[in-house]
Amino acid sequence: MKKKLASVVLAGVMALSLAACGGATDKQAGPQAGDQAAGQGDQKKEQIVIKFSHVVAPDSVKGKAADKFAELVAQKTDNKVKVEVYPSSQLYGDKDELDALVAGNVQMIAPSVTKMVKLDPRWQYVDMPFLFKDEEHAKKFFDSDAAKSLLNGQALQDNDILGLAFWENGFKQFVNSKHPLKTPEDFKGLKFRVQAGKVLESQFKSLGAGSATIPFGETYAALQQGTVDGTENTFNNIDTQKYQEVQKYMTVSNHGRLDYAIFVNKPFWESMPADIRAKVEEALKEATDYELQMAAAENQTSYDKLKQAGKLEIYELSDADKAQFEKLMEPVYSEFSNVITPELIDAIKNLK
Ligand code: LMR
Repeated sequence: MKKKLASVVLAGVMALSLAACGGATDKQAGPQAGDQAAGQGDQKKEQIVIKFSHVVAPDSVKGKAADKFAELVAQKTDNKVKVEVYPSSQLYGDKDELDALVAGNVQMIAPSVTKMVKLDPRWQYVDMPFLFKDEEHAKKFFDSDAAKSLLNGQALQDNDILGLAFWENGFKQFVNSKHPLKTPEDFKGLKFRVQAGKVLESQFKSLGAGSATIPFGETYAALQQGTVDGTENTFNNIDTQKYQEVQKYMTVSNHGRLDYAIFVNKPFWESMPADIRAKVEEALKEATDYELQMAAAENQTSYDKLKQAGKLEIYELSDADKAQFEKLMEPVYSEFSNVITPELIDAIKNLK
């Protein structure tokens, strides 16, 4: 069954009309690397540009790895390919980056996989409460056939998206501005910002809390203005977004994960000359190794920083506390197992 992103058609039309009226300032934004590289006669060949859009801070785990990738590509291709990294939702935010990829307005994105729910609801595996035991478990999953089946999913193929790799961030924690969250009771009546999708909505519902989907780039303001009372995110995102400035309490719960996948525009990718593409793929492999080896450490550093700064009152759930949460969140499994698919959930559980 084909599931095409409806807004892509509109984005494509807009891109064309922009180009037609001379508004497209960078002709390298098109989807075909061949167009960019096609030299005429002796003319110097144009540099291939990969626009890589993401929503987090440059000094976050993903931000650092994206910059590393750009550096490696420049080195390995002798500057024949340039990766332009656009951090902090500068170019596209949560709502638009996937559409922009399909339309060829960017060539690479690394969204938190939850956001792929737009195309394939199975990506919400990452939000299933307490599904992953530790970082090693998440890494084993990235290397598994189950993970490959997501990267090669039909909906991605139908939209000419290639899934190339998984990147790690870490476990999510709760922050809020109202009171310490020590037991499920404490969540009642509060409203939390979530990334996307029904699984996260159901997770908060199971605790008697409400939720609202808010783009990452607008979350700080939403927390500051009290549009929502709190949110969930990794230590590193909490730290690098400075949520501690606008939140008072943090609960260390490790109740769910936030991880990434690298997606590229397939026609663009395949239009790169084979030798150049091989170098870019080599750079991506190295950047991925770098990302996977630093993510947990960066999260630990952020946690230590948050503790030291003393702005957030921090509570760590004990194993007994966690068991209470896990029990209350069980309905999320009965509600969503069929959507995520029992095969995928079992495959992840069996990697433990
Ligand atoms: C979020 O929206 O909380 C995350 O997706 C941000 C990110 O990309 O890490």
